[in-house]
Amino acid sequence: MAQTDTQSAGSSPEPPPQQNAARADSDYQIQVASRVSRLPPYMFGRINALLYEKRRAGHDVIDLGMGNPSDPPQPQVIEKLSEAATDPRGHGYSQSNGILNLRREVASKYLKNYGVRLDPESEVTVCLGSKEGFSHMCLALMGPGDTAITPAPYFPVHMYAVALASGNVIALEVGNSEQLLSNIAYTCQHLYPRPKLLILNFPHNPSTATVEPEFYVEVVKLAKQYGFMVISDFAYADVAFDGYQPPSFLAAPGASDVGVEFTTMSKGYNMAGWRVGYCCGNAQMIEALGVIKGYYDYGMFQAIQVAAIVALRHTQAAVEAQSQLYQHRRDVLVEGLCRNGWDVTPPKAGMFVWAPVPEPWASQMSTMDFAMKLLDEAEVAVSPGSGFGPTGEGYLRLALVENENRLRQAVRQISRCLGQS
Ligand SMILES: Cc1ncc(COP(=O)(O)O)c(C=O)c1O
Repeated sequence: MAQTDTQSAGSSPEPPPQQNAARADSDYQIQVASRVSRLPPYMFGRINALLYEKRRAGHDVIDLGMGNPSDPPQPQVIEKLSEAATDPRGHGYSQSNGILNLRREVASKYLKNYGVRLDPESEVTVCLGSKEGFSHMCLALMGPGDTAITPAPYFPVHMYAVALASGNVIALEVGNSEQLLSNIAYTCQHLYPRPKLLILNFPHNPSTATVEPEFYVEVVKLAKQYGFMVISDFAYADVAFDGYQPPSFLAAPGASDVGVEFTTMSKGYNMAGWRVGYCCGNAQMIEALGVIKGYYDYGMFQAIQVAAIVALRHTQAAVEAQSQLYQHRRDVLVEGLCRNGWDVTPPKAGMFVWAPVPEPWASQMSTMDFAMKLLDEAEVAVSPGSGFGPTGEGYLRLALVENENRLRQAVRQISRCLGQS
């Protein structure tokens, strides 16, 4: 047997003629994996290209496109980062799951805010932003033939992280929470194999829908009844208005038996560029995420983790003040649009206003074309709802990331462009 192997290795057959022939440079092609080529074109590409062109030409575009906070973190957090960066011991690879003191701080925030007890050793992990953690969690849980349910319209990663993990997604209209629960149950009863994962995101991006704590009690019951796991993306946990408290999925009885929750310092703490997120809850799911992350990353720069501890421990008042700021911006934008005849409901939480495109434009053009018109003629960038799946068609998402004066200006420019003033 060994001899046969040696013989075949030693007397390798002639390569087929075309492999033997020298290839012309012009024949050379980069062949990316189908997981890349199968992804749909980036929906915000047209908007971003025009935005870039306008800015290069010196136009002052009011950018309400992305939920990218424009305010800085608290000074003591930045000071801590600078100080920690001077520690010569803090520049090596860190732990992939985050330093223990940071995980302890996250656990104590959960206890303080939601009454949820977490073991920082096994039920908390640090991610390089919650989007990274979420995507790798999908890789850890999903594979060919597996199905996830997610509300629609959807934050694109909720669809495409599952697709990148070779899974399928069923998108159910976010609607009202009772309808959503009954649609989840119906899907579980009629789909075989049953859905493996439910992805939730309340306060919801982009629709701004919110839920009450009882919703998660029912979710846990359904998860146990039909055997699916749950991921709650709680990115807007810290941004809420008029006394509304967004509930944590993990506060529902038995939630940690069936799922995890992602939180982030990007929104309430204005630390989006720092890439600090957390995954908390079910220890087995967190362990599986840890296995994937162990192969892909070496953890977060330690100075950032030390500064994140300071932010969590000492800047809660600033997080609340930031929510107030978003609430004032929401009022300015919603009142301004309503004055011009738009039918906009003020959101209870999150960083966005989700506005139906008014008539006659809704009947005349696609949401994408309307968003392009606002960018081109009013010099206000917004996200077309169709960027969040077909259910978003007919809506615009406006991010509350510019100050009140700029938002007033945006309303004036929009109403002038549409002939509403
Ligand atoms: C619903 C949702 N999840 C996750 C993220 C990403 O958060 P992070 O900055 O922690 O990756 C965002 C950012 O816009 C978001 O809207």
